[in-house]
Amino acid sequence: MGLALPVALALLLVWALVVVSRGRKNGSPPAESHSAPFSVWGWLAGNVSKNENERARGVEAEARAKLAMEQRSARRMKQTSRGQRVLKEALEFCPHDYSDTHGEGTRRVLVLYGTEYGFSKEVARKIAETLAERVADCAPRVLSTAFFNVLEPARENVIVMACSTTGDGVVPNDARDLHEAMSAGVEEEVIAMPSEAAEKMADDTQSAAPRCDKHQANPLFKGMSEQNKFAVIALGDRAYAHYCRGGLVFERLFRAHTSSSPLVSTGMINQEDWSAIDAWIDSLVCALDKEPVLRQGDDDDYLLSSVLELDSSSTAKTSVSKSAFANDNPAELAVNYTRSRPYIAAVAERRMLTKVLEHGDKETVHIEFDLGNSGLDYRCGDAVGVLPANCPDIVTDLLVELAANSHDTIQMRNGEEMSVQEALTFHFDLKNLKPDLLLFIRTRVNSTQRALLDDLLDGADPHGKSEKVLSYLHEREIGDVLADFSSANLQLGDLVPYLKPLLPRYYSISSAPRAALDHSAAIPTQLPARLAATVAVLKYETLGRQRKGVATTFLADRVQVGGKVPIFVSRNMDFRLPASPSVPVIMIGPGTGVAPFRAFLQERLGPAPLAPQGKSVFGAYGSENGASESSSATIQASNWLFFGCRHEARDFLYADELLAYERSGGLRLVTAFSRDQADRKVYVQDRLKEHGLALWKEIDTGRAHVYVCGDAGKMAADVHTALLDIFKQHGEMSQVGAEMYMAGLEKEHRYQRDVWAS
Ligand SMILES: Cc1cc2nc3c(=O)[nH]c(=O)nc-3n(C[C@H](O)[C@H](O)[C@H](O)COP(=O)(O)OP(=O)(O)OC[C@H]3O[C@@H](n4cnc5c(N)ncnc54)[C@H](O)[C@@H]3O)c2cc1C
Ligand SMILES: NC(=O)c1ccc[n+]([C@@H]2O[C@H](COP(=O)([O-])OP(=O)(O)OC[C@H]3O[C@@H](n4cnc5c(N)ncnc54)[C@H](OP(=O)(O)O)[C@@H]3O)[C@@H](O)[C@H]2O)c1
Ligand SMILES: Cc1cc2nc3c(=O)[nH]c(=O)nc-3n(C[C@H](O)[C@H](O)[C@H](O)COP(=O)(O)O)c2cc1C
Repeated sequence: MGLALPVALALLLVWALVVVSRGRKNGSPPAESHSAPFSVWGWLAGNVSKNENERARGVEAEARAKLAMEQRSARRMKQTSRGQRVLKEALEFCPHDYSDTHGEGTRRVLVLYGTEYGFSKEVARKIAETLAERVADCAPRVLSTAFFNVLEPARENVIVMACSTTGDGVVPNDARDLHEAMSAGVEEEVIAMPSEAAEKMADDTQSAAPRCDKHQANPLFKGMSEQNKFAVIALGDRAYAHYCRGGLVFERLFRAHTSSSPLVSTGMINQEDWSAIDAWIDSLVCALDKEPVLRQGDDDDYLLSSVLELDSSSTAKTSVSKSAFANDNPAELAVNYTRSRPYIAAVAERRMLTKVLEHGDKETVHIEFDLGNSGLDYRCGDAVGVLPANCPDIVTDLLVELAANSHDTIQMRNGEEMSVQEALTFHFDLKNLKPDLLLFIRTRVNSTQRALLDDLLDGADPHGKSEKVLSYLHEREIGDVLADFSSANLQLGDLVPYLKPLLPRYYSISSAPRAALDHSAAIPTQLPARLAATVAVLKYETLGRQRKGVATTFLADRVQVGGKVPIFVSRNMDFRLPASPSVPVIMIGPGTGVAPFRAFLQERLGPAPLAPQGKSVFGAYGSENGASESSSATIQASNWLFFGCRHEARDFLYADELLAYERSGGLRLVTAFSRDQADRKVYVQDRLKEHGLALWKEIDTGRAHVYVCGDAGKMAADVHTALLDIFKQHGEMSQVGAEMYMAGLEKEHRYQRDVWAS
């Protein structure tokens, strides 16, 4: 017994030292303990002294405590500056230095954003800027949902969430972990809610809150209550079947955790409708004005200290990769390249997949990137993100128009200086123009051109948007607009605030990683050596001038084999083959929609068993002739592909490979050549109906997985209707029954769509 106290103290001291040194090993000073009840530093400074030789040790302890306090305050100052540097990357504070606005009596407002393509981030910034300007006692911070693990939501007075929807009605990749964490303990219907129900719910802020079992809730959200106010703005596009579903699901999750309603009705924003966004922000400002200001008991912001523990780059890496790979095997996916840190890949191969016989025929290219020793990995169903470059001719014309020298420098939004040439080539979208550019130009033109602009802008909203303006801009690129209103004499610096950033373009990966292994490598690796994409080249004419798609002509015409392209992989966890190779799959992919299905087939059957004169893109895995081990193992499973194109002789993509799979018995191929018959068009959905009974059996009895890829607008909707018709006819169901049956398939992940609206 006599030894117990000294031993316990010794153990405690060892533990304390271990904890302290661990903190240092990470390169960060030990974290200030704001929420933990026990502070190692406090213990070292005070508690140890209260043993033998109390007086002497008391003096020493006092000195140590003083020293510790001084060190703490020095560290605190250092941390604050380091913290603010880190926070500048992880968090954004609006509109000025955060430390000036934050303090006791300030309402903590967190603006969270979940984004796939960056728009929600822009909206989040605007919300924070407006609240900082118009709401009293308000210190808004902006944070990506990818960093949600630094949050203590119960300590936020207000959480405003801006979230888009991606894929077939799912939350963006960077919000997946948050979604999963918030879903723990919450009724399942909330999480997998059909958008129609969600839409109804969004209209009714008073409706009953969904339930959350607090015992099962993720610890992060357990403390949330009706004291934690929230509001959601959902960014989406009406062209998609599940309009704004991502934001609406978060609204339901916040309701469940707070057992209350949002401060204002959830905003549902179609495309980039800034007027609707402004109106929603106005309603939020009014609601916050009416809310009593709940004072925080402390003047420390827990976010600041949390973020201090994380190095900015490793934070980005761990959070983003964790979110991106949620359902994948992280061990397999060692390296994560992103749009801000892409891999610079060399083009290894490019070939034309179509024959252009007359003007207007489709040009589609197959392009392969060499992954070198990047460590980059991907899975079937993923897309590759490409950071394109604008056409040099367009950049040169613009430089002339702006009377600028290519070597002049320009300061970018993030403060970086770069040459005008570089900025115009890699950073600005010179095609998709914002309507408010016209409002700005109106302030600079002469009276004749002003009259023209007045006419054009007549009836436009405060952001310059109207049907007339949109159709004017649709036909024009930046050079055309500057030429139309040449009297404005604009400089590039004038234009910058009105130009959108040049965004990455996505392409469904059309190779299977295991079909792309490099068997000749000195050190064998399980990582793919190549990555393929299937790119339909965009060329069209407006106002008598030929126009080019930025990325497609970059990939098809401007980059040479051996040339470099910045790429990254965009995971798509909602478009995956069934785990078992014996489960039948039905793939519906007209045009370039066939891309991921080429990867699926390679995964299930091995590289296409082409005749000797044919050329397989990747080396065979399994055996020399391409009839791989996996093909013999999976040949029993049914692989059914519905492919459509205009003409069999011109744009039947990968015809040699698909026909070879068919010949080998691995693939059931059904084609719809829309323009090969004079009297009418034949589409994939017509073929689906022709095979209705067999399809129904394969889905209902065979438990097949159904995949659709390609155009989200018309094709995906028509195919959906055709499938419902098949269920009604062959499954003898009513319309409602067929829809419920389809919902069941979706829930079981047996109906997956990877569609995109142009
Ligand atoms: C997840 C995903 C996967 C995708 N997979 C593929 C794929 O596998 N293969 C593929 O080819 N594409 C795919 N896409 C589409 C691809 O990302 C690009 O959007 C497409 O290639 C066009 O890019 P671009 O830069 O060449 O065109 P941009 O320069 O972006 O031009 C497109 C814009 O041009 C304008 N435009 C187009 N036609 C006309 C016209 N006739 N008149 C006036 N204006 C017009 C429109 O404003 C349109 O938005 C995918 C998209 C997503 C989101
Ligand atoms: N993951 C993705 O999201 C993804 C992947 C790949 C491609 N895409 C997108 O998918 C679209 C198709 O690409 P593409 O240019 O290669 O195709 P495309 O050649 O324009 O069209 C392919 C075939 O589909 C037919 N078609 C047109 N309307 C249809 C409808 N309502 N239902 C069924 N078939 C229809 C076309 O017929 P007609 O022209 O004769 O009418 C043609 O025969 C593009 O928008 C592309 O960007 C998206
Ligand atoms: C591949 C893809 C899938 C999409 N899916 C949906 C969807 O299911 N529902 C919806 O309302 N909007 C959908 N959208 C539209 C986006 O949500 C919308 O463009 C939004 O403004 C993007 O915001 P972000 O840049 O913050 O991601 C989709 C967009 C793309 C490119």
